[in-house]
Amino acid sequence: MEPTDYIKLLSRWGHILPAVILVGGSIFMQTTLIPALKDSDDANDVKGKIKRTWAKVIMICAGIIIISGFYNAYIAFKGDPKPTPIYHAAFTAKLILVGIVFYVSSLLSGRSEVAIKFQEQEAKWGKINMMAAILVVLFAGLMNVAPRVARDIPNSDNSSRSTLMAPETTTVDINSTDEG
Ligand code: HEM
Repeated sequence: MEPTDYIKLLSRWGHILPAVILVGGSIFMQTTLIPALKDSDDANDVKGKIKRTWAKVIMICAGIIIISGFYNAYIAFKGDPKPTPIYHAAFTAKLILVGIVFYVSSLLSGRSEVAIKFQEQEAKWGKINMMAAILVVLFAGLMNVAPRVARDIPNSDNSSRSTLMAPETTTVDINSTDEG
């Protein structure tokens, strides 16, 4: 492995781990914690404490996810083979959903006046947030398997042609097509 591969690996770990915490946490809250607290007498007190801690976790995870995500995107977009429109579409959809997840999460765990008002409908927004977080992971998976296309190589006879290939493949000999 080259030194840059270690940075790529760190960035991937740094992206996937906080993503797992964020998405897993929101699923756990919606499916287990909130239903369990519904029947509890001191639910408000417990909820308040959970929200304060969860808000810190979200902030840390979001920070790491954004830094590693942009680095991953930089690597993907400057690399050869380059991403195809499917990748671009999945990336755009993912970014919009990420914006929604971060915004809704911050309101659900915040203590400002706007956040408190928003939390009057926390069951509904919690579910929407969980669905959006799951979709983010699905779009990330789509990005991973989306086909990539070789960049045009200057001074090559075949420079105007592209070769579709599996995303795992990193080098392409565009002269090796079955043209004869
Ligand atoms: C809630 C926030 C996010 C979650 C849960 C999330 C989740 C994931 C996961 C699970 C993967 C790994 C996919 C795989 O290898 O199969 C991934 C990859 C990736 N993510 Fe995110 N992500 C988030 C935010 C972001 C942001 C903000 C960016 C960019 C600004 C970003 C850019 C990327 C890129 C470029 C990849 C690599 C895709 C590839 O080419 O294989 N992500 N993300």
